[in-house]
Amino acid sequence: MTTVRFEPGRALRGDYVPPPDKSISHRAALFGAMADEPVVVRNYLDSRDTRSTLDALLKLGAAVDEEAGGTLVVRGVGLRAPLEATGGLLDVGNSGTLMRLLPGWLAGQPGGVWTLDGDESIRRRPVDRVAEPLREMGAHVEAREGRLPPFTLRGAELRGITYELPVPSAQVKSCVLIAGLLAAGATTVVEEQQSRDHTERMLRRARVPFTRENGGVTVCQVDELELDEIVVPGDPSSAAFLVAAATLVPGSRVVMGNVALNWTRTGFLRIAERMGAVILGDLEEPGTVADDEPVGELDVASAPLEGTEVGPGEVPLAIDELTLVALLGAFAEGETVVRGAGELRFKESNRIAAVVEGLRGLGADIEETPDGFVVRGDGTPLPGGTIDSHGDHRMAMLGAVAGLASTGGVEVTGMEAAAVSYPGFERDLRGLLDD
Ligand code: S3P
Repeated sequence: MTTVRFEPGRALRGDYVPPPDKSISHRAALFGAMADEPVVVRNYLDSRDTRSTLDALLKLGAAVDEEAGGTLVVRGVGLRAPLEATGGLLDVGNSGTLMRLLPGWLAGQPGGVWTLDGDESIRRRPVDRVAEPLREMGAHVEAREGRLPPFTLRGAELRGITYELPVPSAQVKSCVLIAGLLAAGATTVVEEQQSRDHTERMLRRARVPFTRENGGVTVCQVDELELDEIVVPGDPSSAAFLVAAATLVPGSRVVMGNVALNWTRTGFLRIAERMGAVILGDLEEPGTVADDEPVGELDVASAPLEGTEVGPGEVPLAIDELTLVALLGAFAEGETVVRGAGELRFKESNRIAAVVEGLRGLGADIEETPDGFVVRGDGTPLPGGTIDSHGDHRMAMLGAVAGLASTGGVEVTGMEAAAVSYPGFERDLRGLLDD
């Protein structure tokens, strides 16, 4: 376990480009593997999670040529490959996205039997949320204690269903839509609140007809995916740590380029703005990368903050950044309340418990609620101390940002977890510190 200290005292200044988006990278590799023709993926994220995806796809018979500069050529096996011969154990590592998306494809391969397993953290994360709709579609799924990995999946001839998501989840939506490509009839996923839509955008790129009406996305069986190139924009969830740092550390100003600004991912930026953060740039009118995903520049300067309320409607749009809302809240004047975010308990760590314990240890006045937290600040910086990442990449990076913004510095235990999504995090963060 690596312990790293982050000291205050220097502003962040300069230009910054976030690493490639993790969600889009997973999908690009998976869709590449499901295609018949080679797919070029530009700016693929090199991280532990996205490496797990490539390893699983290689086991399933896809080939991946890695070229310089993050370009991959994925030589897929086609949507209905003779995948049954590849049955056996697939290791998803720490990746919840891989664990929830891949079964959508495997479920539609009659005769195939796979067991999916991962690390200690993944073994605590529920898979019943994908097992249930896949069973309804005709696949067989057996999970440990009925809901946890490792779990075994038997592919089958699938039938289309209409599935109402019990909790907003882009991972579950994506799993069912991918299975829908192999199922007889139409498959509709209904979501009460819109979650990130990268799968839908990639379906469009792959020339798969689908509709979105009244919160329902419908796909039908297709023969093949028609994809040639996918360009991955910078990850707004990784950039969010730098946005928080530039906002909290006095005298900072950071200009960020190539940030994915898909509105289903920018909830945190809007919440931060509401708290007083100064975020100029292309948030309202982004351009697009490869005529597809919105992308643009952000210009962030330090500013004093005030508390805010975040309700269930905003949660899916800021799901991976809600712990950063707690951090901003601890430095803001007044009360910051997050509600309707019970999902945070099922992430790489129990993020409600981890952020409350972690920030309290740094001097914050913060309380846990069943579905969120309440933080009270007086507009002064946290004193600092020690924070444990609990093996969660986003908790490790939050600790680092807290250290730069604190008065006394922060020691992060388990800093190595950052490599799950952002191996260059420490280098990028320290590279912006003013001399
Ligand atoms: C993801 C969706 C989110 C998010 C995760 C990545 C995705 O999970 O927390 O980091 O790539 O679809 P849920 O949509 O299941 O909440």
